[in-house]
Amino acid sequence: MKSLRIFDTPTEVAGAVADRLAEVLAQHPRPVITFPTGSTMLPVYREIVARSQTGQLDLRGVQGIQLDEYAGVDDHTEASFRAWLHEHLLAPTGITAFHTLPAHDPTPAALASYEQVIASYGGVDLAILGIGGNGHIAFNEPGSPADSRTRVVELDRRTRQANERYWTDSDAFVPTRAVTQGIGTILEAREVLLIATGAEKAEILHEALHGPVSEHVPASLIRSHPHAEVLADAAAGRQPSDSSARESDRLSA
Ligand code: PGA
Repeated sequence: MKSLRIFDTPTEVAGAVADRLAEVLAQHPRPVITFPTGSTMLPVYREIVARSQTGQLDLRGVQGIQLDEYAGVDDHTEASFRAWLHEHLLAPTGITAFHTLPAHDPTPAALASYEQVIASYGGVDLAILGIGGNGHIAFNEPGSPADSRTRVVELDRRTRQANERYWTDSDAFVPTRAVTQGIGTILEAREVLLIATGAEKAEILHEALHGPVSEHVPASLIRSHPHAEVLADAAAGRQPSDSSARESDRLSA
């Protein structure tokens, strides 16, 4: 792992992600980028959209890649991750190239083809990730193998509870299964950026960064990636015994 950077506020974290995106865009005219969903990403996408709408960031050349999705959804499912991303990032920034997971009918052939398409793009330049309260990355729940590929998974009880808010009473179902890039798939990206904000992520982030590198805490597995960076706000990045709000240190795997 390359580094951990801690900022005072989620707004500063958002600014740092947007800055990194600007650097990636300066290096590659058509970067391949994996985008996550979740409340952590809202201020980040707000900042990216604001910069795009004021002409500071041009994302129209980006090839977007979907990271995870509920199993069984299609393009018309309002609570799908693809609909969420369309609303909060893709439409307002003009990203039209978006490679989705075969969530509606995730046959082994469709899942393999999803990965082959990524390979045909030359792989992922930047994988942006959140971290679940249980340490998951994408929908790789605790116990997911480090070399796992894109596949169908059962959602953890805690993940289902955390995501219930996205599903209204009128929705036909709250999914119990999802389709997710595997940990092995994610770690093939040339660069990984994990974002964590809020006090409710402090404990699991500390475990992911300082506990054993283990499949029990999937986010800990990013420490084996030489170009992984973690961006946290002070609330998430605080050490259990730490009273200072700001620190920056370099970590090794
Ligand atoms: P959250 O989700 O940003 O809504 O907390 C993060 C995740 O589960 O990856």
